[in-house]
Amino acid sequence: MATSSLGEPINPRSTETADDFARRLLAWWDEHGRKDLPWQRNRTPYRVWVSEIMLQQTTVAAVAPYFERFIARFPDIETLAGADLDEVLHLWSGLGYYARARSLHRAASVVMTDFGGRLPDSEQALTKLPGIGRSTAAAITAQAFGRRAAILDGNVKRVLARFHRVAGPPSSAATQRALWDFAESHTPEKRVADYTQAIMDLGATLCRRKDPSCPECPVQDMCGALARGDVARFPERAVRRERRIERCRFFVLTAPDRTCYVEQRPAAGIWGGLWSPPARDADESATRFLEVLGVDSVLVLEYNAAPTIHHGFTHFDLDVEPVYIRLAEKPPGLPGRWIGPDHRLGVSALAVRLLAATQPIELEP
Ligand code: ADE
Repeated sequence: MATSSLGEPINPRSTETADDFARRLLAWWDEHGRKDLPWQRNRTPYRVWVSEIMLQQTTVAAVAPYFERFIARFPDIETLAGADLDEVLHLWSGLGYYARARSLHRAASVVMTDFGGRLPDSEQALTKLPGIGRSTAAAITAQAFGRRAAILDGNVKRVLARFHRVAGPPSSAATQRALWDFAESHTPEKRVADYTQAIMDLGATLCRRKDPSCPECPVQDMCGALARGDVARFPERAVRRERRIERCRFFVLTAPDRTCYVEQRPAAGIWGGLWSPPARDADESATRFLEVLGVDSVLVLEYNAAPTIHHGFTHFDLDVEPVYIRLAEKPPGLPGRWIGPDHRLGVSALAVRLLAATQPIELEP
């Protein structure tokens, strides 16, 4: 008999249990599941692919408007592959984790050159494309091609960890293996696209991280953690490392035509490939910044230090000190660009905020 990683014989992975689990989830989803998400309409492999990339570590509510805009501008793989990366990043601006947009753009080119413009329909081929890991490949295989494939995203991990009381550090190989085994064993042969959506919906709407709605759960009487009264214990939390705090200064140069100076950030690292007002070490003075950039200080009309902005990333916090510098004219020979509100470049949400502060406030008519 299979045991949970606590060594207890809970929810043995018999075929019956797996069938029952899937059947109950499907019946629940038929009644309560989400069936009108933008990517569920006119389902095509391309639309499913874009949605699954956007949904990595991002909620449905945040993704929906981005998805609609992205698809309106890049309706198919060929258009995406032929687009400028800057424009792709522009439509991703504010969604975060920008490496996803760069990988998606690169993968579109690979699909054009290696697969004649058609997204491959096997998990194995999909995982070779940039930005597609095991769970995303399975989600695409199931949702776009209706082929059996087991997914294991964050929501599904939580459902299975509770149902089977899978203990152990979430990132350990043993925990991952146990969860993948359970994911595989529950995935049905039929209605796999609906099942995949059902288990994700269950995790997102009932089996929530905080305050789960166990009384409404379709598998409550089979759930190992609920039976033991220790739902909150699963999945185990990663050992929290102290969050580091970094500081930096952003210099926002403005010209008389109200454009602002932006530089492209290096491809690796935070906001990779996005355009941003220059960021420098927190101890860099405005004078030194202008000198290194090659801007004559006689052009400066005004300096203005704005209050610090606290910006949270997954693994650290950034304290941003904005310094606004108004110039009498645009200095010649700078390597970056001057942009106004109608630009078509990819900029981070923080840069949007810094740049917005340079524009006149629009009053309601
Ligand atoms: N997260 C990842 N893929 C998803 C999907 N298809 N629906 C809802 N949440 C998701």
